Amino acid sequence: MRILIYTGKGGVGKTSIAAATGIKLAGKGIKTLVVSTDLAHSLSDSLGVDLNYQPTTILKNLDGMELNPQHQLENHWAQIYQYLVDLLKMMGIKDIFAEELTMFPGVEELFSLLEIHEQFKKKGYDVLIMDFPPTASAIRLLSFFDIIGWYMEKFFKIKKKSIKFLRTFSNSFMELPLPEEDVFTAIEEIYQKMEEVKGILTNPEITSVRLVLNPEEMVINESQRAYTYLSLYGFKVDCIIVNKLFLPEANSDFYNRILARQRSNLTRIEKIFSSQRVFTLPLICEELKGLDNLKPVSRLLYQQEDPLDSFFGGIPLAVEKEGDGYHYRVYLPFLQRDKFRLHQKGGILIVTIGDYKQKLHLPQLLSNKSIKKAQYRDSYLHLSF
Ligand SMILES: Nc1ncnc2c1ncn2[C@@H]1O[C@H](COP(=O)(O)OP(=O)(O)OP(=O)(O)O)[C@@H](O)[C@H]1O
Ligand SMILES: [Mg+2]
Repeated sequence: MRILIYTGKGGVGKTSIAAATGIKLAGKGIKTLVVSTDLAHSLSDSLGVDLNYQPTTILKNLDGMELNPQHQLENHWAQIYQYLVDLLKMMGIKDIFAEELTMFPGVEELFSLLEIHEQFKKKGYDVLIMDFPPTASAIRLLSFFDIIGWYMEKFFKIKKKSIKFLRTFSNSFMELPLPEEDVFTAIEEIYQKMEEVKGILTNPEITSVRLVLNPEEMVINESQRAYTYLSLYGFKVDCIIVNKLFLPEANSDFYNRILARQRSNLTRIEKIFSSQRVFTLPLICEELKGLDNLKPVSRLLYQQEDPLDSFFGGIPLAVEKEGDGYHYRVYLPFLQRDKFRLHQKGGILIVTIGDYKQKLHLPQLLSNKSIKKAQYRDSYLHLSF
């Protein structure tokens, strides 16, 4: 199974491109599911088909669905849901609805990732197209593994032992209800699944992340930052899609100036992302909505190419022998020296870029060696051990 993730700044055309890609692949006889993580039903609007939390057929070989964290919480994680409701009741908060529970930070992200896991395990489709939220939320979503990992390791694993011990006294002993064994089991199951999703999403043979942008300076800047952070978390961006290009030649000064600005920004995009394949899509005059409009767009965008190909062959991370020591390199495009910090703690390398932090596990053979030299060149961070 292939997983194609489309992200980019708000409004650049992620949903339209995800829908057009689905149409293109379905036309080639590939069983495709387009999934939207957006509660605003924009995928339904784009395709002109009512979608919900279950896969709905749009065309032959093309199904679509819109995630609904509330539905997922109530139906798949009943034990956790009930425990949270009981817990909040004990704290004096009555009549809590799943709707409110899913507003807890991270819950939406968690359920989006669990859905990817479920679809991947079911193997019902050849390709899963994810219409992701705008870059900032997408990065939060993709860095979620670290947060949940932290909770699990620091809290649940230790607590489980002591709570087993406490329960042997009495439940009424405590002011708060103790989670039953099945709640722990359910949470452990989620954790297990998160570990698996992380493996799936960071496997470049399965997953490709695609950055959609418009030829506008602010959009380019945000995409450049997103590209760095995505690489930091180990996700492989395999192409850039420049949408809403002005194509028609016009003689008025107004159009000529917009055209000139777009051309120079497109050149800039091609230069900045020179190691990446860049696809372009013109601005079309009709509202890009419905299958009739999306079909020609899907042909224009990929031309003779296959959207399932992985367009970028760079290596995310490599370790090689170098003299008496080792050379370790990790792909981190557009790294700014002043926003970057590096710490080593035994077998763990902590890389901080701006507000984002990532723990990279060093291979066993480097865990008791320390960094002798660090250098940044050709989009790679090079470390000598
Ligand atoms: N090439 C294009 N030509 C004309 N209109 C377009 C094109 N691409 C997208 N649009 C229109 O731009 C608007 C935003 O597109 P879309 O919803 O696909 O963006 P998005 O990145 O998913 O937005 P959001 O961040 O809100 O999810 C829509 O009205 C869509 O029809
Ligand atoms: Mg959208």
